[in-house]
Amino acid sequence: MWRPPERIRHQPRPGRWPTAAEAAASRLFSPITVGPVTLRQRTWVPAMVPWRASDEGFVTPEVLDWYACFARGRPGAIVVEATGIRDVPSGPLLRVGHDRFVPGLRDLVRVVRDASRGESRLFIQLIDFLSIRRRPSAARFFAQFLTITSRHRAAFGRVDASDGEVRSWLATLPMVEVARVLDANELESLEFGSRERITDLHLDHIRRLPAQLPRLFAEAAGRARSAGFDGIELHFAHAYTMASFLSGSNARDDGYGGDIANRARLPLEVFSQVRAEVGHDFVAGCRFLADECIPAGSDAHDALYFGVEFARAGMDYLSLSRGGKFDDAKQPKVGDAAYPYTGRSGYECMPSYYSDSQGPFGRNLDPTAKIRAAVRTAGYTTPLIAAGGIHSFEQAEAVLAGGQADIVGFARQALADPDWFRKVAAGRGADVRLCLYTNYCEALDQRHRQVTCELWDREALEEPGVKLSADGKRRLTPPTWTAP
Ligand SMILES: Cc1cc2nc3c(=O)[nH]c(=O)nc-3n(C[C@H](O)[C@H](O)[C@H](O)COP(=O)(O)O)c2cc1C
Ligand code: SF4
Repeated sequence: MWRPPERIRHQPRPGRWPTAAEAAASRLFSPITVGPVTLRQRTWVPAMVPWRASDEGFVTPEVLDWYACFARGRPGAIVVEATGIRDVPSGPLLRVGHDRFVPGLRDLVRVVRDASRGESRLFIQLIDFLSIRRRPSAARFFAQFLTITSRHRAAFGRVDASDGEVRSWLATLPMVEVARVLDANELESLEFGSRERITDLHLDHIRRLPAQLPRLFAEAAGRARSAGFDGIELHFAHAYTMASFLSGSNARDDGYGGDIANRARLPLEVFSQVRAEVGHDFVAGCRFLADECIPAGSDAHDALYFGVEFARAGMDYLSLSRGGKFDDAKQPKVGDAAYPYTGRSGYECMPSYYSDSQGPFGRNLDPTAKIRAAVRTAGYTTPLIAAGGIHSFEQAEAVLAGGQADIVGFARQALADPDWFRKVAAGRGADVRLCLYTNYCEALDQRHRQVTCELWDREALEEPGVKLSADGKRRLTPPTWTAP
């Protein structure tokens, strides 16, 4: 992963933990209304993909264990990982693109209700993504993937050359020459693996995204509702389809790109159809970027506009993230796919302990506060959720007291210690296992391996009933905490 060149080493700052009475009187542990539901406390576990679904996208016992763990901490809300809305193979990522996925999701809802004693509200993040291929070897790229055109023949110097002759010639060229012959897209496919973009309007299925996605999201939301979730989160953030529509780099010329209103058009159409499907007694919110953190991307100013328009459209909440784009991702190794959290924008999304003078804690708070202020000025009371490096009670309480957000998200801190919420509420903050922001978990995510935390995954492996990861080396859930 990219790191700020300053490489200043930061430590988590637990601050002073509250007594049980102080916690009970705090803003963090006070209720808040989110659309038609009430959260018992203003704590939130944002979506985290743990790579535990079956290869066909079904809920597995390991998925149930993962969410039971968070539920036992009884946060105000838990958002289930990014879940695919299409009925297409996508490896061990959860899916909701067909009714056959509903029974498993219903089990998941039941497990969370039981483990949280009905105290945590449960939302599911709905995602669409475009196809991305692994980086090929140069030999394979020239032999199989590159479409030979007259441009390549002209560079070869023979307009009547066969495809095979051009392919063999290209395979012998040094990279500087290859870079002169290939166009930008071809070169990217060679160096990174090919990746579809929402601007590939020459592809029929990409041109028709605006016609198809509102229905796909709405049907997925309807299934989430019938599975018993309290609501859905539209994934409009990071490197995926809907964020690409919002992106400053969206140059579609069909009314769904270019100026900012056109870039927000499809996300608003998706929301409108989702709302029509699920009604007003079911939560529908979204996660979007306070800043894409790439040169050609939407910035904090654009995000003010999106926040106000989403609130105006009637979204029940707005959850803010930042960065996480393909545009500045590192070149993957041959055989691997590009991963959108390896460049500077990826660092902004999941900042680690080696940082700059600003540090990894709360980098998204200022932009979130500005979006909240714009939403309030426009007359909407929509709650906003902040996340990014938040791990202490004092920090979370200050976010609420300062009006930077209405609810506080703890992703990696909840992975490090899912009982954070119960421990802090009980006045036992000193027992919290503090996240060190090492991004060991994120590296597992990058390699599509079952996500665990290094603070507990080698502990008490011999305990009866402990389930181990596929490599047999790590426990999949932390040791259970029993309140004294
Ligand atoms: C392993 C892992 C998986 C993640 N998966 C998702 C995801 O599915 N959807 C999403 O919006 N964010 C995802 N994120 C980002 C987190 O929700 C969160 O925004 C980020 O980690 C910063 O918050 P934190 O500092 O509290 O961890 C993931 C993060 C991690 C570490
Ligand atoms: S592995 Fe654990 S300590 Fe490291 S960043 Fe992830 S949650 Fe935090």
